[in-house]
Amino acid sequence: MAIPKTKTVYLCSNCGADSPKWVGKCPACGEWNTYVEERLAKEPAKHVIQGFAGGGKAHPVLLRDITSEEESRIDLHDAELNRVLGGGLVKGSLVLIGGEPGIGKSTLVLQTILGLKNLKTLYVSGEESGRQLKLRAERLAHEDTDCFILCETLLEQIFVHAQHVQPDLIIIDSIQTIYSEAVESSPGSVSQVRECSAAILKYAKESGVPVLLIGHINKEGSIAGPKVLEHIVDTVLQFEGDRHYMYRILRSIKNRFGSTAELGIYEMRQDGLREVSNPSELLLTQNHEGLSGVAVAAAMEGIRPFLIETQALTGSAVYGTPQRSATGFDLRRMNMLLAVLEKRAGFKLAQKDVFLNIAGGLKVNDPAIDLAVISAVLSSNLDIGIGQGTCLAGEVGLSGEIRPVNRIEQRILEAEKLGFSHILIPCNNLKGFDTAKCTIHILQVKKVEEAFRHLFG
Ligand code: TYD
Ligand code: MG
Repeated sequence: MAIPKTKTVYLCSNCGADSPKWVGKCPACGEWNTYVEERLAKEPAKHVIQGFAGGGKAHPVLLRDITSEEESRIDLHDAELNRVLGGGLVKGSLVLIGGEPGIGKSTLVLQTILGLKNLKTLYVSGEESGRQLKLRAERLAHEDTDCFILCETLLEQIFVHAQHVQPDLIIIDSIQTIYSEAVESSPGSVSQVRECSAAILKYAKESGVPVLLIGHINKEGSIAGPKVLEHIVDTVLQFEGDRHYMYRILRSIKNRFGSTAELGIYEMRQDGLREVSNPSELLLTQNHEGLSGVAVAAAMEGIRPFLIETQALTGSAVYGTPQRSATGFDLRRMNMLLAVLEKRAGFKLAQKDVFLNIAGGLKVNDPAIDLAVISAVLSSNLDIGIGQGTCLAGEVGLSGEIRPVNRIEQRILEAEKLGFSHILIPCNNLKGFDTAKCTIHILQVKKVEEAFRHLFG
């Protein structure tokens, strides 16, 4: 038998473009140092595509003849996951869940399918053995469900088993361990990931069985493998959080069947993940009466309001350059806020070390927490605590003005719901919101000085 001819190509690990020789900068996407060497079979991916023949049967239809009934969705019995997916898992869709190693992707997926009573699921594991999965399942409280475990990494075999089992849902853990015989390079390489996911997409669309792919992310934080992977799938979810804290956030980055503003919050426990339906209560458990350096921000993540503690510590700088450190907040933004403080409140920037921490290990991107951050720093500097019942929302501009933020009503209502008595918000932000019904005192502030007068007298 003739040995199949192979050739070496160089593929961009960002966009998947190929080139016969190595280049430093990808001409297609402009990224540097993304080219990797791969061996390709002369006839790429033929078997994969033939594996479940049936292609080429589509024919043009008039748009008006296509029925627009709701996509049929599978209820995953997990309110957070359902919401992030846009109301459940759409039949025939391909969903990618990405996240750092050990963050809990396998746990989330296994726990979800173990809660699906009337569905037959097939869990394809390329990373863990059946026994390991059994041990994990024993940790998670679950009912007796029809869940098949398949420890296989060859794509063609997976399709054979899927034909046989006829599952209602397939999980592939993880896409980087799956390989196809039709592609010469090793599992996890750009061409394997690209060809395998394209074949899986075809399978999902033709059979109507939804497939959940688990994907690793690389050190830059994007999903390992070519960017085309994210283009191929219908939905990309990112599971994130600090491994040393218990909170996990499930974020939707792309969703063809729902909004990307949705977000799910979980708590990692000994017995699996627990849905957190009211995040503020968890993030605000500590009693900080009389402590300086703590301010509560009314923040938003996606379209969910929650209240979060920002903590700051300032001290005299003993070295030449003062130390600055921020956890969960952008350091450059903190430096900007410190410069505003220097100008507006006589804070001696060059002589102070500043440490900032957002409670719970969360990363908050909402600019509305600026006001809380700047107040926490000043509170620590003056050593005067901010009243327990006060929370803040507002973006701080370069000249110390407090700028309006989005969805102020939701922030106010969330603060009221949690029993806060005062909230500081930007001036002219209320636009038509009827505050008559609110019992919380709303203080509108224009400048940081004004806010500081309210907080510290
Ligand atoms: P895992 O799902 O294996 O992560 P991934 O698939 O993203 O790599 O999660 C592993 C971590 O979760 C591990 O450090 C242990 C922890 N864990 C719990 O805290 N409670 C549990 O019930 C389970 C199953 C795992
Ligand atoms: Mg895993």
